[in-house]
Amino acid sequence: MSSTATVKTAPVRTRPDWRGGPWRLPPGLKHDMMFYANKPWVRLGNPIRLFEHLHREYGNIACYQFLGTPIVFVNDPEYVREILVTQGAAFAKERTVRRMRVLLGEGLITSDEPFHMRQRRIAAPAFHRQRIAAYAEEIVQSAAGFAERVRMDETFDIADASMELSLEIVARTLFDAEVDDDIRSINDETNTIMGLYNFIVAFPRFESFLHLPIPGVTKFRRAKARLDAIVDRIIREHRAVAASSGKGDRGDLLSMLLTSRIEVLDAEGRPTGEVETMTDVQVRDEVLTIFLAGYETTANALTWTWYLLSQNPVAERKLHEELDRVLAGRLPTLADMPQLKYTEMVFAESMRLYPPAWVMGRMSLKPIELGPYRIPAGSHFFFSQYIMGRTAEYFPDPLKFEPERFTPEAKAARHKYTYFPFGGGSRQCIGESFAWMEGILSIATLAQRFRMVYAGEAEPTVQEKITLRPKGPLLMRAEARS
Ligand code: HEM
Repeated sequence: MSSTATVKTAPVRTRPDWRGGPWRLPPGLKHDMMFYANKPWVRLGNPIRLFEHLHREYGNIACYQFLGTPIVFVNDPEYVREILVTQGAAFAKERTVRRMRVLLGEGLITSDEPFHMRQRRIAAPAFHRQRIAAYAEEIVQSAAGFAERVRMDETFDIADASMELSLEIVARTLFDAEVDDDIRSINDETNTIMGLYNFIVAFPRFESFLHLPIPGVTKFRRAKARLDAIVDRIIREHRAVAASSGKGDRGDLLSMLLTSRIEVLDAEGRPTGEVETMTDVQVRDEVLTIFLAGYETTANALTWTWYLLSQNPVAERKLHEELDRVLAGRLPTLADMPQLKYTEMVFAESMRLYPPAWVMGRMSLKPIELGPYRIPAGSHFFFSQYIMGRTAEYFPDPLKFEPERFTPEAKAARHKYTYFPFGGGSRQCIGESFAWMEGILSIATLAQRFRMVYAGEAEPTVQEKITLRPKGPLLMRAEARS
């Protein structure tokens, strides 16, 4: 017997619950955050400054309150492990992520348990190592095509170019399509909505305002309707092709999501004989989630990698030596990946200094004990890959770009959660293997042909949107390698 989603997300209380004290909150700001509005380290849309301030003043765990809700900033890897893994079941996604449901519905990023676990089980086969191995060739072909288009010795914005490459890769692997009008429209509408992100998260119940004629809301409503219409049509077309060809699985991620089935388990974890699939709406939520989660993150990681290589000739030379030795001028394949160790270390080190997902947030569903502290249910917890990666206690001389920090020995000597670009625990990035493959194979394909020379005047600054982007264009000039 086959059925679709039956598991529902349980409602989650989003306000702090002070019953059941006494509480012992970490050290931190004495007054509510509103009181500090004029401080230079408090700037709307710039939480990195605030986190840096808290870390400098109070150490690896600090607390403040915002309109009565305790907010804990954690920069201790063991506490990060507690929140993501050891006590993971006692936390849900934090408020600003939950508000993204207006765009992503109940996709993997925004949903709560037990619904999330069910979706994750259905989606998992699409991300298995063997499955994504088939995408290696698509990635290399996209990168090689991109290399052909780059004009030597002309200045261009590497951030834009990396987005273009990543978009092509997501179009081929997610939809089995070229970057056509549909894919561009998905990209444009998603960008419009992400441009409204700060506006959306500022509303406690954005969905209740959706019918109002407020300009930002109207813009959101239109973009979302267009987005849904395109993705729904692509899903219908995939289903139609599958029905007419008798072949459900075209090899792309979307086909896999449409054909994935899981066995329903009973309360004791025994198979019930029933299988479940996703409804079209659930597939749409997951497609948008994967599109958003999978494309801008990798594009930013590549952008920063090119910048860091341009600033670090020794690392760049070692990278070139590895590529010349392993590939000797041919295009890389999946089979080369185990030999491209330095390339992998370059990509890893780049994500330490410029992690595309630069912050993560959780909300406690029950009272939490963290070291000597006792923190009420409904508190918010943040930890930042960006701050952790730049903390000298974990990474000596932290601003130095040093891929050797990622040799197996160096990694083994550090706490696992000093470096968590892909998160951890039950919500760990499902696309992590995909992202490593895309990063390593793209760098290997492009760095064989040319080197990037930074053509900007000042050191680029970061812009902390959902992902960590450069502020303004990041200008580069490609020089053919002799
Ligand atoms: C360098 C690239 C990437 C980075 C840095 C990254 C980072 C992350 C992080 C930190 C999370 C966990 C968020 C949390 O727990 O709050 C996450 C989740 C997720 N990522 Fe990625 N990601 C990348 C690439 C990808 C790719 C390529 C895909 C898909 C093709 C993808 C799909 C997802 C999905 C669906 C989730 C939600 C997983 C769940 O909650 O079950 N990501 N990602």
